[in-house]
Amino acid sequence: MLKPWLLEIEHQLLPQLEIYSKQPYDPIVVHYIPKPWKLLGSGNYAAVLMHPNYSDLVVKVYAPGRPGIEEETEVYRRLGKHPAYSECLHAGENYLVLRRLTGVTLYKCLQRGLPIPRQVIQDIDEALAYAVNRGLNPHDVHGKNVMMKDGRGLVVDVSDFMKQEYCPMWDDLKNAYDRFYYSWVRKMPIPNFALNVVRRSYRKWKKFRRTRGTI
Ligand SMILES: Nc1ncnc2c1ncn2[C@@H]1O[C@H](COP(=O)(O)OP(=O)(O)O)[C@@H](O)[C@H]1O
Ligand SMILES: [Mg+2]
Repeated sequence: MLKPWLLEIEHQLLPQLEIYSKQPYDPIVVHYIPKPWKLLGSGNYAAVLMHPNYSDLVVKVYAPGRPGIEEETEVYRRLGKHPAYSECLHAGENYLVLRRLTGVTLYKCLQRGLPIPRQVIQDIDEALAYAVNRGLNPHDVHGKNVMMKDGRGLVVDVSDFMKQEYCPMWDDLKNAYDRFYYSWVRKMPIPNFALNVVRRSYRKWKKFRRTRGTI
C-alpha cells in the first residue's frame, strides 16, 4: 500500500521546495519551503525536512547537481539496524526518507553551551568501529554530522562512508575534545561567527598542510 507520507513528499514537498548549491564546499542554500514542512538542517549535499504529521521521519532532499544519493542508500543497507544510526525507509530519485534522530548536533551543543559528556564521544567511536566492520569508511564525521541525545552519541550523516581515503575529521574532533574542550569550553556558548571562523580556518589549515606534503 502507498504510504501517505509518500504522497505528501511527491505531490506537495518536492514540486515546491527550492534548494540549490552555490559553492561546492559550503552548505547548500534553502530558498523556499512549502508549509507545513520544517527545515531540520542542511549540509553540503542536501536539505533535511520534517512534516508535523509524520514527525518520526525526515526527508533528505539532495540539491540539484549534488551527487551521492546511491552511495548513501548503500551505506544504510550495509549498516542495517544500530542504535547510533538512522535507517533508510525509502529511496526516491533525489531524496531519502530516514528515521528521525531527535538529538542535538554537537555543533549546536557548542553554540548553546550544552556540555558534551565523554560517553557521547565513546558511543560515536564505537558506532564508527561498527561501520568499519560492515566494510565502510567513516568520512566527514564532524560536529554537524554527530548528535547527542539523552547523554548518548548518534551519527546523523553517513553519506560519505563509501569514500576510500582516510578522513581525519573525527580523530581531530576527538583530539580537540581531550586537549581543549573538556577543560576549557564545556559550558561556554560559542557565537555562530566564531564557529564559522573555526570551520573555515580548519579547512584552510588542512589544505595548507596537504599542499606542503605534511599530511
Ligand atoms: N535522520 C535525521 N534526523 C534528524 N535530523 C537530521 C537527520 N539527518 C539529518 N538531519 C539534520 O540535517 C542536517 C543535514 O543533514 P546531513 O545528512 O548532514 O546532510 P549532508 O549530507 O548534506 O551534509 C544535519 O546536520 C542534521 O541537523
Ligand atoms: Mg552533513
